Amino acid sequence: MAALKLPILLLSFPLLFCSISALDFVFNGFNSTDVFLYGNAIIESRILALTNQTSFSIGRALYPSKIPTRAPNSSRLYSFSTSFIFAMAPYRDTLPGHGLVFIFVRETGIHGTSSAQNLGFLNFTLNGNPNNHVFGIEFDVFDNEEFNDPDDNHVGIDLNSLTSTATEEAGFWSDDGSFNRFRLNSGENYQVWIDYSDFQMNVTMAPAGMKRPRRPLINASLNLSHIFTDEMYVGFTSSTGQLVQGHNILAWSFSNSNFSLSESLITAGLPSFVLPKDPITKSKWFIAGVTAGGFLFVFFIATILGIFIADHRRRARARAEMEDWELEYWPHRITYQEIESATKGFAEENVIGIGGNGKVHKGVLTGGGSEVAVKRISHENDGMREFLAEISSIGRLKHRNLVSLRGWCKKETGNFLLIYDYMENGSLDKWVFDCDERNMLRFEDRIRVLKNVASGVLYLHEGWESKVLHRDIKASNVLLDKDMNGRLGDFGLARVHSHNQVASTTRIVGTMGYIAPELIRTGRASTETDVFGFGVLILEVMCGRRPIEEGKPALVDWVRRLAAEGEITAAVDERLRKKGGWNEEEVERVLHLGLLCVHPDPKTRPKMRQIVKILEGKIEMDENESESMNAYLLERLKSQGTWCDSSVGFGHKHPTFEDFLQSSSTSMSWSDSIVVGR
Ligand SMILES: *[C@@H]1O[C@H](CO)[C@@H](O)[C@H](O)[C@H]1NC(C)=O
Ligand SMILES: *[C@@H]1O[C@H](CO)[C@@H](O)[C@H](O)[C@H]1NC(C)=O
Ligand SMILES: *[C@@H]1O[C@H](CO)[C@@H](O)[C@H](O)[C@H]1NC(C)=O
Ligand SMILES: *[C@@H]1O[C@H](CO)[C@@H](O)[C@H](O)[C@H]1NC(C)=O
Ligand SMILES: *[C@@H]1O[C@H](CO)[C@@H](O)[C@H](O)[C@H]1NC(C)=O
Ligand SMILES: *[C@@H]1O[C@H](CO)[C@@H](O)[C@H](O)[C@H]1NC(C)=O
Ligand SMILES: *[C@@H]1O[C@H](CO)[C@@H](O)[C@H](O)[C@H]1NC(C)=O
Ligand SMILES: *[C@@H]1O[C@H](CO)[C@@H](O)[C@H](O)[C@H]1NC(C)=O
Repeated sequence: MAALKLPILLLSFPLLFCSISALDFVFNGFNSTDVFLYGNAIIESRILALTNQTSFSIGRALYPSKIPTRAPNSSRLYSFSTSFIFAMAPYRDTLPGHGLVFIFVRETGIHGTSSAQNLGFLNFTLNGNPNNHVFGIEFDVFDNEEFNDPDDNHVGIDLNSLTSTATEEAGFWSDDGSFNRFRLNSGENYQVWIDYSDFQMNVTMAPAGMKRPRRPLINASLNLSHIFTDEMYVGFTSSTGQLVQGHNILAWSFSNSNFSLSESLITAGLPSFVLPKDPITKSKWFIAGVTAGGFLFVFFIATILGIFIADHRRRARARAEMEDWELEYWPHRITYQEIESATKGFAEENVIGIGGNGKVHKGVLTGGGSEVAVKRISHENDGMREFLAEISSIGRLKHRNLVSLRGWCKKETGNFLLIYDYMENGSLDKWVFDCDERNMLRFEDRIRVLKNVASGVLYLHEGWESKVLHRDIKASNVLLDKDMNGRLGDFGLARVHSHNQVASTTRIVGTMGYIAPELIRTGRASTETDVFGFGVLILEVMCGRRPIEEGKPALVDWVRRLAAEGEITAAVDERLRKKGGWNEEEVERVLHLGLLCVHPDPKTRPKMRQIVKILEGKIEMDENESESMNAYLLERLKSQGTWCDSSVGFGHKHPTFEDFLQSSSTSMSWSDSIVVGR
């Protein structure tokens, strides 16, 4: 994609100002040979990412060779025209900073620079020194009084100093003469044009994809002779402080002669770094929200109490109404005697598992001799409600990846029994955790089972007239039939919700280690919380590790960290890794998918429908930018930020807004503390 012409020096016309073709290049996406990287800068999915979530860091990238700035022995500077597309990507729940500078510098490396408000451009000592020989166009999102910044969203021309010689608020002029402001670090992609000719510099910018505005944002009369040495490095630099954000360069062109070269930048189909809207933590309303939340919480508790008391009364009534209800619904009632004889009087030797509500027995029904699993639900354990929920949902759900309910039975004493198809091969966890290496499922089988479960969950979420949430997706709730196909069972916690209606619950149900962070916060189950559970299932099955194990980091955090380090395959089940013979790309894809499913931001998690497609290896990738699905998934993970700081927090944790408020008096740099005050 990137085209590079080697420097052509037309030495025969040294005095022809403006017309000498010294160098031009176009990068639509970057590879490792295109630029030199310093500090935290990396190239990932062809994007030049100058910084990540690490605080107080610097990232710099330079074109790998020096470029001549003037004809030999001449005082006349070459003109140049450069254009690039950048995105400053904010991270969720984090105040963003600090900015990006397009630079001309004498030397490689990041010596003599510091982070935070210094933008990785200079440091406090060197700032303003005429011997610096550095030139920059800054895109600064922080208001630093010491540098006379006009605001926290400006573009400036920097000559040897962070105090700009010219600044303008970020935006562009429309042809009709109106000025359009925009936020530099909204996560949007912006294109910048910087033209220098005849001691005149124009800086223009606009949202990527827009035609170049005719009127520049900044026009300045500028003599760069004393700044530029004969040859300079050109590139970008940026920094984070206590405030962090991503600084990404998506494309870049440069030419000394062709002022139209920027037209070869591809502006369509670029990835977006805009965070999905999250009303909770975005603004000062957050603080108001926390206060209001306290009152709401009290109200919430009162409501629960109310519901609880009302529920007691209703339950007494429900018992009486039971008979009508029984007649109305499939599946069929089976007599207690029938079940008792099928399970040989609930003999201990027929126990095949312990469910959340009691023991599960194996049985053989008389007449036909089909094998069944009988699950007992006791009345004391809120039995009636769960029974109603379970039977009304799964009784009518039929799917090859769900364990089907054959019938049910009510005992006079108030004990309920549910009769399921018997699954010959037991639950998935036994084939992943509690087994020796010979019986253990291979990767291809594990992925197949995950695909099975995914289509089962998709059916629950979308395949029926009402949305059904499972609420307790985990390895021990996945059963394997005689052909080793995965089927999702235990709908004891599922409840039926009509589509579009927000599900709410008065208590959190599920299993520790599988519960999505927002479910703990809000108590609301949703398809997204099911997706989270499914994500944990993916990770536990692929890694052969339970989500929470004594003395080890939580599975989700551990895998996330390995992925952030680019070592995601180190997470896969060791016992299988040794054996080899597995499709690394597919395993990686499934792991990335698992991570995306457990993303702290529910809106970033994929839908079941997308998960099924990704598992099958087919999704519509919105742009041919992504080289592979793995890159695509990784990009999605990263572009949304916060992927390395879950609510549990492991390893490197960057400050959240709350941390920020708490620590504002002590650990922050002077520049950052201003934000808190505002
Ligand atoms: C990087 O891109 C350049 C063109 O810009 C190309 O010549 C080179 O082969 C690429 N290298 C790799 C490793 O893709
Ligand atoms: C940021 O990048 C640096 C260098 O590439 C790396 O060591 C560090 O772990 C990264 N931090 C995060 C939070 O991704
Ligand atoms: C430039 O000047 C240097 C000495 O000042 C001289 O050695 C060199 O030959 C000159 N180059 C050209 C192209 O005139
Ligand atoms: C700035 O950089 C110079 C050159 O590396 C160094 O001598 C000086 O101590 C640095 N100043 C600060 C404040 O870091
Ligand atoms: C700067 O912009 C003005 C107005 O569009 C134009 O007349 C001038 O030629 C431009 N200068 C450069 C160096 O591009
Ligand atoms: C240059 O900028 C000044 C303000 O700084 C403005 O009045 C003038 O119209 C601009 N010229 C062009 C050609 O854009
Ligand atoms: C630019 O600066 C150089 C040296 O600093 C000087 O020789 C030259 O005359 C200046 N040109 C203009 C147009 O000011
Ligand atoms: C300048 O660049 C444009 C866009 O890439 C191209 O169409 C045009 O031919 C180039 N002009 C010259 C003189 O190379």
